[in-house]
Amino acid sequence: MSEMDVQTIEVALGERRYPVWIGGGLIRDAARWRARLRGRHALVVSNTTVAPLYLDRLAQGLDGLHWSSFLLEDGEAHKSFANVGRVLEALAALGATRDACVIALGGGVIGDLAGFAAACWMRGIDFIQVPTTLLAMVDSSVGGKTGVNLPAGKNLAGAFHQPRAVVADIDALATLPDREYRAGLAEVVKGAAIGDADFFAWLEANADALAAREGAVLVEAIARKVRYKAGVVARDETEHGERALLNLGHTFGHALETAGRYTVLLHGEAVAIGMLLAARLSERLGMAAAADTARLHRLLERMGLPTAVPAVAGPEQLLALMRLDKKNTAGTLRLILWRGIGQAEIVGDADEAAVLSTLAEALAPNGR
Ligand code: NAD
Ligand code: GLY
Repeated sequence: MSEMDVQTIEVALGERRYPVWIGGGLIRDAARWRARLRGRHALVVSNTTVAPLYLDRLAQGLDGLHWSSFLLEDGEAHKSFANVGRVLEALAALGATRDACVIALGGGVIGDLAGFAAACWMRGIDFIQVPTTLLAMVDSSVGGKTGVNLPAGKNLAGAFHQPRAVVADIDALATLPDREYRAGLAEVVKGAAIGDADFFAWLEANADALAAREGAVLVEAIARKVRYKAGVVARDETEHGERALLNLGHTFGHALETAGRYTVLLHGEAVAIGMLLAARLSERLGMAAAADTARLHRLLERMGLPTAVPAVAGPEQLLALMRLDKKNTAGTLRLILWRGIGQAEIVGDADEAAVLSTLAEALAPNGR
């Protein structure tokens, strides 16, 4: 993919601005991203799967800097406070000053943890996101949510800390396993389903090209999703309102992930099923038409995503897990539902009986 095909989306938060570059060859294009580094120190945080594939490529651009790398073992289980401590120790060993930069090379696990470490070192230093999964390119690397898991739950500790730049090099997706790629597509569909009906129709028209990872279509899809998310984050950086819409499908999805002990579904897969459940609940509550649910179902299927609810728990147990969601306020179940494609809505006090019926219907032997 040539230089001409690189798309730049600017995330603008008042005075603070940063670019998200999307295209091929970007990790090698150090002249572009080096300009965002302010000091002489850099720590690359990656993992034992991604570093052997892409660290050399990135390192070519770090010539002349005082830099080192810190590699985590692969997996969500390593997105822990203990590992943030280890990254901070690596920054200390590097002699990192206040103008140092952390470079996150990997998927959402690495980006979230490295960003949180950057937020903590000297109360906040720069970091650059180099996302290598589709999910990280279209969602986790943009918007400044960083953090780690605690034994008590996922993403319970963290900080809002925006990156200095996001380098989304689609060449890195060549090695991404199919299942991870499709999970990323769910996050693309999510953006369209929440707030952009034209984008949804464009995805329907381009579903086969996307499933086949065609470069130009992929860049366009990532760019459209990032542009949509950048707009939401610009209006509501710290999630006091509209940003909560980005969690369409998450409350159902998290319950399924937790019930399956994070081994049954990938996050994106859980979001896909969760979005469908949210659509069916919206139908049940008279908020949306069955035709919209059917379009969502069909698009997710064409992208190779699961749409059936796995039998990881019964409806009551899933509802109990949904009550633990971070979005809830005391005593109420707060869900993101929709009025149809591109029209997601926050529902502050969701009808629990309707949630139970939706779950029971989906889990029934011949459930839809
Ligand atoms: P991940 O980081 O675990 O990556 C998935 C797998 O792909 C891992 O095994 C990883 O090593 C491997 N991998 C990464 N890039 C690769 C490549 N180019 N080639 C081959 N293998 C590669 O998972 P993810 O789906 O990227 O991210 C999930 C995480 O993101 C979760 O922790 C979730 O909480 C977080 N998240 C954060 C936000 C946010 O706004 N901050 C949003 C969504 C998700
Ligand atoms: N992934 C949800 C958000 O960034 O707010």
